[in-house]
Amino acid sequence: MTVPIAIIGAGIAGLSAANALMKAGKAAHLFEKAKGPGGRMASKRSEVGSLDMGAQYFTARDRRFVAQVQQWQAQGCIAEWQPQMYHARAGQLTPSPDEQTRWVGTPRMSAITRAMAQDVPATYRCRVSEVFRGQDYWHVLDADGTSHGPFSHVICALPAPQATALLATVPKLAAAVAGVTMNPTWAVALAFETPLETRLQGCFVQDSALDWFARDRSKPGRNSLADTWVLHATSEWSRQHLDLDAITVVERLHGAFAELINCSVPAPVFSQAQRWLYARPAGNHEWGVLADASFGIYVCGDWCLSGRVEGAWLSGQEAARRLLEQLD
Ligand code: FAD
Ligand code: NAI
Repeated sequence: MTVPIAIIGAGIAGLSAANALMKAGKAAHLFEKAKGPGGRMASKRSEVGSLDMGAQYFTARDRRFVAQVQQWQAQGCIAEWQPQMYHARAGQLTPSPDEQTRWVGTPRMSAITRAMAQDVPATYRCRVSEVFRGQDYWHVLDADGTSHGPFSHVICALPAPQATALLATVPKLAAAVAGVTMNPTWAVALAFETPLETRLQGCFVQDSALDWFARDRSKPGRNSLADTWVLHATSEWSRQHLDLDAITVVERLHGAFAELINCSVPAPVFSQAQRWLYARPAGNHEWGVLADASFGIYVCGDWCLSGRVEGAWLSGQEAARRLLEQLD
């Protein structure tokens, strides 16, 4: 009997680990609480089209990730986005062109994780509440009380606070992961019937409730029915307004956007707010992966590296590499 490896979390880190393990001939099984893969790279379907509410774009600096990006490009699930970039400081909007190559999923961000998840056995809508080890094998208990297993190893590919909750059987590992703070982000999407009169397509912001806004429709392959924009609040603003209702969040961030954008901003025909509780790690780490290899449990995710898409993918690769090394 082949005993598979359990991977909890079908964000890009978990999928990266699953793809690497399966490429090495190992059996893996994903557990994901949402109805599909993607995590913070998911896109929201809406009446005005798909919207990237989480990751906006990504860059590739590590040569291994550069090679993966080339494969995705050949597969057609990503394309380069070349926005008219601006920055805003002290309320002043200035063009800010640069040479950075930025990638996005096409026709939506979630196209990448969807492609990665294609051949991976998975149980969706399954919130894991506990992982425990019997004499030889691991078992996974879900929130409905169903036990899944046996598994030879476990990889937790979750934001650090969500991973900590599953690590009760490995207290030393739990303590290390519990030391990682992750900050929230409030995201708001707005859609306008008539396109806003601006060339701006992406903007890094300082001295505002916002730290980023972008014209979602300017990304390649989008078929939005209106002029769609996504706004992200700073970690600080998001923390201070964590429990604000979504309508007020939309009003406030729409207001901050209208103050910055330098053109008239009518009432949107569509708006939506999404709160990401664990959006980004408070600091950078260089762990790659954390593990108790003697017990066969590994923890990975963006917070083990750069807190970006690239860091999450690399961390998943690192988890798979360490696990395979242990098997040799
Ligand atoms: P996640 O994507 O968080 O995956 C974890 C998965 O685990 C989720 O699918 C979750 O549903 C699942 N899960 C959690 N608990 C359980 C459980 N108990 N049982 C089962 N499943 C569970 N990065 C960039 O490079 N560029 C950007 O422009 C950018 N912008 C961003 C904007 C926002 C608003 C946010 C939130 C993030 C942004 N990022 C950006 C960061 C990037 O999205 C993340 O670094 C990356 O997607 C993290 O991947 P991950 O697999 O580590 O974690
Ligand atoms: P990048 O190289 O485009 O940006 C890195 C940083 O450099 C930007 O945050 C910005 O401050 C600055 N910068 C880059 N180009 C600029 C320009 N033309 N004008 C002015 N400033 C510029 O991309 P990288 O390194 O891949 O970073 C990913 C992005 O994802 C970052 O902006 C980061 O803040 C964002 N992110 C957001 C999260 C959230 O929760 N809102 C979570 C994780 C990442």
